[in-house]
Parts: sequence; C-alpha cells; structure tokens
Amino acid sequence: MARFALALLSLWLLRPTLLRAHPAHAEEVNYPLVTGFQRFHAADDSPEHLAKGGELLLNELNCVACHAPPEPLRRRFPGAAGPNLAGVASRFGDESVVQLLLRNPRMLKRSTPMPSLFAGPDRDEEELAALYAYLVSLRQKPGEPLLLGNVERGRKLYHETGCIACHAPDGEYVPPGFPAEATPEAPAIPSQPVRIALFWTADHLTRFLLDPLEYHPSGRMPGQGLAEIEAADLAAYLQASPLRQEPDPARLQETADPGLAARGRAWFASKGCGNCHETGDGPMPRRRAKPLLELRPEPHGCLQDEPLAGAVPYYYLSPLQRSALTLALQNLATTETTAGIDEWMTRMDCYACHARQGKGGPEAAREPYFGALGPDAVDRESFLPPALEDVFQRRTDAGLRDLFSGRAARRYPKAGARMIRLPEPMVEEFLRMR
Ligand code: HEC
Ligand code: HEC
Ligand code: HEC
Ligand code: HEC
Repeated sequence: MARFALALLSLWLLRPTLLRAHPAHAEEVNYPLVTGFQRFHAADDSPEHLAKGGELLLNELNCVACHAPPEPLRRRFPGAAGPNLAGVASRFGDESVVQLLLRNPRMLKRSTPMPSLFAGPDRDEEELAALYAYLVSLRQKPGEPLLLGNVERGRKLYHETGCIACHAPDGEYVPPGFPAEATPEAPAIPSQPVRIALFWTADHLTRFLLDPLEYHPSGRMPGQGLAEIEAADLAAYLQASPLRQEPDPARLQETADPGLAARGRAWFASKGCGNCHETGDGPMPRRRAKPLLELRPEPHGCLQDEPLAGAVPYYYLSPLQRSALTLALQNLATTETTAGIDEWMTRMDCYACHARQGKGGPEAAREPYFGALGPDAVDRESFLPPALEDVFQRRTDAGLRDLFSGRAARRYPKAGARMIRLPEPMVEEFLRMR
C-alpha cells in the first residue's frame, strides 16, 4: 500500500502547481462531471429548466441501471453504461489503483461519474478483499504488441483531431498561426479529465483510442477513426506525466484461495457493480432497488448528502445536482416519453463541436485549436465543425449511416477536427428519433 499513498499524495499535491500544462493534470470539478449539465443547466435557475438537467443526470449517472424506469420511459432513459471490465486486470499493474477504483474512485479522479459503494460507515474489508480478488482474476491474453508512439507528434494530434473539444488543452501548446506574443485563454467549461488512463498499460491506452467504444460502450468518449500510429502517439503524449508509474500486470497477484474470487463475483453482483459494468464472464445477476417512479424525491438514499450504510451508492453530488435530481424525480410521471434530437446531442456532447439552433459549438477559448483564431479571424466559421441546422432533414438515412461509421467523404476539409464514429445501434436509435 506504499504506492497507494504515493499515488494519492502526488495527485493531490502536484496537480495545481507544477503540472498544469499537461491535460492529465487539469483542474477538476468537485462532483461528478456531466458536461451537458454543466454547460446548459447549471446557470439557469428556472425550476423547469433545472428539472430537465436532472433528467439528463438520471440518465448520465446511470441511476436508471438500478432504479428501473417504467416501460413508457425506457426508451427515453437507456442509461450510460460504465466501461467493460473484461480483461481489466491486464490494464493495470498497480494494486493501489485497483483498490481505489473499488473503494472510492473519486480519490483517483475527483469528478468521476462512478459512485462509491464503500463510502458508508459499514465498509467490510472481507468483501473488499473478495472483490479485489475477482477484479484481479479478470485477465485477457495480451494481443499483438502495438507500435510505440512519439510524445511530440501526439501533442500536436491531440490538439488537431478535436480531443480538446472535450478534454483540456495543454497550457504550453501554441496552435499554429497563433500570435507569438499571446497565450491562449484557458477554457471555462470544465474539461473531461484524463486520469485513469495514466495507470493503464501504454498498449491498452492505444487500443482504447483505436476503438473507445469496445471498452466504453456508452459512446460518451467517441471514436475518431485513428490510425494505429496516431493512437500510439496520443497514448505516448497522454502518459508523459511524472505521475505515471509503469504498470506491470504481473504485480497484481492472484489469490491462493480459489473460492475468494468466486465470492467476489457474487459481491460484484449484489453491490450493483454489475448494473453498470459488463465483465465478459457470463450473465451477472442485477441488483434490485426501488423502481424510478417510486423513489421519494427528498434528500434520501443516493440523494442524501452523506454516505449511508448498506452500500447505497454515494456520488458526491453538488447541491445543484441534488436539487436538479429531486425536481426531475418530482416531475417524472408527467415527463415526455421520447428524447428529441436536442436531448440526444446534449447527452452525447455533440455540442462540444457543433452548434445547432443557437446552442453549443466549441467555446471561444477552444476555437484557436480548430484553426479559428478568435472572433475577428477571416472566415472563422469554415474552420469550425459545421453548424447542424437542417442537416438531419437534408441527409438520407444511408448518408448519415456513412457519416457515423467514417465511410463518408469529407465535405468541410478546412474544419480543424475530425467527425466522430458511433456504434450502429446508437445510430439506428438516432435515425428512429429524427
Ligand atoms: C448500483 C445501484 C444504484 C444506483 C446506480 C443508484 N441507486 Fe439509488 N438506491 C440504490 C439502493 C440499493 C437504495 C436503497 C433503497 C432501495 O433498496 O431502493 C437506493 C436509494 C435511493 C433513494 C431513496 C429511495 C427511497 O425512497 O427511500 C433515492 C431518492 C435514490 N436512490 C436516487 C438515486 C439517484 C438520483 C441515482 C443516480 C444519481 C441513484 N439513486 C443511483 C441503488 C442505486
Ligand atoms: C465529445 C467529447 C470527447 C471527445 C471529442 C474526446 N473525448 Fe475522450 N472522453 C470523453 C468522455 C466523456 C470521457 C469519460 C469517460 C467515458 O465516459 O468514456 C472520455 C475519456 C477519455 C479517456 C479515459 C479517461 C481517463 O480517466 O483516463 C482518455 C484517455 C481520452 N478520453 C482521450 C481522448 C483523446 C486522445 C481524444 C481525441 C482523439 C478524445 N479523448 C476525444 C469525451 C471526449
Ligand atoms: C452507476 C454506475 C457504476 C457502478 C454502480 C459502478 N461503476 Fe465502476 N465505473 C463506472 C464508470 C462510469 C466508470 C468510468 C469512470 C471514469 O472514467 O471516470 C467506472 C470505472 C470502473 C473501473 C475502471 C475501468 C477501466 O477500464 O479503467 C473499475 C475497475 C470499476 N469501475 C469497478 C467497479 C466496481 C468493482 C464496482 C462495484 C463496487 C463498480 N465499478 C460500480 C460506473 C459504475
Ligand atoms: C470532435 C468534434 C466533433 C464532435 C464531438 C462531433 N462532430 Fe459531427 N462533425 C465534425 C466535423 C469536423 C465534421 C465535418 C466533416 C466533414 O468534413 O465532412 C462533422 C460533420 C457532421 C455532420 C455532417 C454535417 C453536414 O453539413 O454535412 C453531422 C450530421 C454531424 N457531424 C453530426 C454529429 C453528431 C450528431 C454528433 C454527436 C453524436 C457529432 N457530430 C459530434 C466534428 C465533430
């Protein structure tokens, strides 16, 4: 556990000062970050608008994985699954990191949407040991080794492909053409932190970037159709941090007690880990909790402002998030049953790159990285991803399928980012909606 203390200490101490420049050390908010809520619902205090934000949180924080919505609302609240944990022990080579993810993931990533199930007063060390043994048993044979990347090329790609629409720009990176004497402004909309990837093997980070949807099926971290060398360069850059310790999965010792991992699997199901995570080792029973419409909309259960016993999830919600969720729960019985395009785009954070009907688009401080150097630049808009006014009507189903799978030819060659990829079922869901 000495490394555990070290990882913790370095995350807390080094972050704000020495390491600001690197995206993995960017400032984080102190509650689960849901970009759409943060950007579009946190400033407006009308109760109707806040309730809409609460509905977004119910889905994005995956409350609906345990508190089942009634049949008519099921389409509207499909939830946002956590990462697939098949082979998870082959990604990490550090006991302390895996322990933190189990006990209190927030210690690793302050704004994580994963709740703690062991923050309450009745944490049971035996259960934790069994769960740990189970996670360590989830290994996969290593695939073919991948290319090793180059940090400088990775830094450039990171800013040019559009990662900075959602993640923090590097404080020391100056976009090409930016006036030499000026420094780009820091973004005000909080960025998605890159923290957990610091503790993955380089190989796993490269695989993740090649096909993020295979590991994070929610699609909130989209694919961008990278080539292997590009993914390797990005991985090299993102892991070029003094906080990184080279992982060695062999260091995660499997237990000598053959029953322990099996007991851990049972706990994994009964705590509700399996409501958010696939593990690739057969069907996992789901934890049951009160159905969504029966939740009392008061500071109670998961909405209470301190952790409870009985492994009730604790999310470290902000007071505003708590009010939004409470309002949403009060209004659920009368809410619409289908999501519209705007709601879907907010969830998927398409607004990080695209404007539509006056909403969203890259925030001004991030524009220079798209090649658009401030509001006075000539032809500024042609550098940004196109605004999506009537495009969903204009383009055919086949055209949109091609677009989301990367088969469509580029129409906006000057736009300084790449369009994202989405998995087929998500595209079909979207086509039904428009
Ligand atoms: C891993 C499963 C799980 C997830 C995810 C989850 N909850 Fe819960 N929740 C529970 C359990 C277990 C209880 C205890 C009461 C019960 O069994 O229903 C509970 C209790 C509650 C209660 C009190 C219910 C009452 O009427 O007494 C509320 C309100 C609540 N949760 C809201 C939420 C919200 C909002 C979210 C998302 C931010 C959420 N929950 C996510 C499992 C979960
Ligand atoms: C539309 C917004 C968006 C874009 C564009 C995007 N990401 Fe992400 N990324 C996310 C979100 C949201 C997460 C949070 C985890 C999740 O839900 O999958 C994430 C997670 C990650 C993680 C793992 C998080 C951790 O804690 O370490 C890495 C690494 C990452 N992104 C790298 C990249 C890189 C590199 C690019 C550009 C090639 C990129 N992302 C583009 C939204 C985005
Ligand atoms: C409400 C949904 C939810 C529940 C319940 C939940 N998780 Fe998670 N988990 C997530 C999300 C979302 C992430 C991604 C975190 C991030 O990128 O910030 C995650 C990440 C992880 C990771 C890191 C995966 C990787 O590839 O880096 C592990 C390990 C993990 N969870 C284990 C668990 C265990 C064990 C439990 C039960 C004690 C659990 N989770 C309960 C949502 C959940
Ligand atoms: C990282 C930035 C980024 C994100 C995030 C993003 N896009 Fe795009 N998108 C682009 C770029 C760049 C283009 C222009 C591609 C080209 O040159 O044809 C584009 C093109 C499009 C087009 C075609 C526009 C036209 O006029 O032909 C549609 C439709 C679209 N995106 C929808 C979406 C949706 C829906 C989402 C969210 C699920 C999304 N995009 C997320 C960057 C992004």
